Amino acid sequence: MITMDKLIVIGPSSQLLGMRTVNKTGLDFVQTEYKTFPDGECYIRIKIDDESVIAGKEIIVIQTLGASNRADQNQRLLELIMMISSLKRMKAKKIRVFVPYLAYGRQDKAFRPGESLIAHVICHMIENAGADEFYTVDIHADHVLETFKIPAFNLNPMQLLAEYVKSKDLQNPVVVSPDKGAVQRSKSFAWFFGRDVPVEVFSKERDVITGDIKMTGKLNVKNMDVIIADDIISTGGTMASAIKIAKKSGARRVYAIGTHPLLIQDAITQIIDAGADEIVGTDTINNPFAQVTMASLLAEAILK
Ligand code: R5P
Repeated sequence: MITMDKLIVIGPSSQLLGMRTVNKTGLDFVQTEYKTFPDGECYIRIKIDDESVIAGKEIIVIQTLGASNRADQNQRLLELIMMISSLKRMKAKKIRVFVPYLAYGRQDKAFRPGESLIAHVICHMIENAGADEFYTVDIHADHVLETFKIPAFNLNPMQLLAEYVKSKDLQNPVVVSPDKGAVQRSKSFAWFFGRDVPVEVFSKERDVITGDIKMTGKLNVKNMDVIIADDIISTGGTMASAIKIAKKSGARRVYAIGTHPLLIQDAITQIIDAGADEIVGTDTINNPFAQVTMASLLAEAILK
């Protein structure tokens, strides 16, 4: 029975994080019914018997855009758009959209002539479908959120990730930034380990055509516990290269942290083979390395 004036809709891609968030907030929730038609089109409906339970309510939708065996990120996006538009049609008072992992966030610039700024287009799609507020976690490029006219927020997972890693009894921690663009991010992450925790950086270049990366530099990490934090671990190429340099430079233990642990192809073996002691991720993506839950981050934003 739905009695509250706020209601969480748990999208098919965020069932675990969705339920954890429900438990943290104590709010009512509904699930969805979904399938893929034989021709490939997707179907989704909010699992309610009576549309009047939506009218006049503040609705919180949680749907990450990470791929699974059942659905890729494109299908996840379409499911999200369909959910928002049906809530709009049913006259929700306010639709607050939580997309813990925003897929396509790395396509935020035209790196080569003829490319699409799809990250921005997705923001337009979400807004045009009827969203009143947008939230994501650790977006790849902050400026993408400026596309929205509605309020849009980037939730910061760093304190929660740092608390987890700190429980590992670190000795001489040092944070390594996987590329120059991530230095500011790494500096704020290091702060959670202590004011004097250093940040080491090396340079990474990615070939925009092949996607191959080249890392250079030397790190001052001898006998130290190295924490390498990136927003996304996808193929694991960036992380594995960074770990190899850290190990070569005499690191004691290495923690490979990715807010969004997509871990596609042979990423896991690559990273462990490079010398990582642990891969740590969050539940913005469903996989066994999602040890750190973002539920309290979402709950805090929802209850604000
Ligand atoms: C790139 O700028 C991102 O922050 C990550 O470093 C990148 O997406 C990781 O990709 P991969 O795991 O495929 O190297």
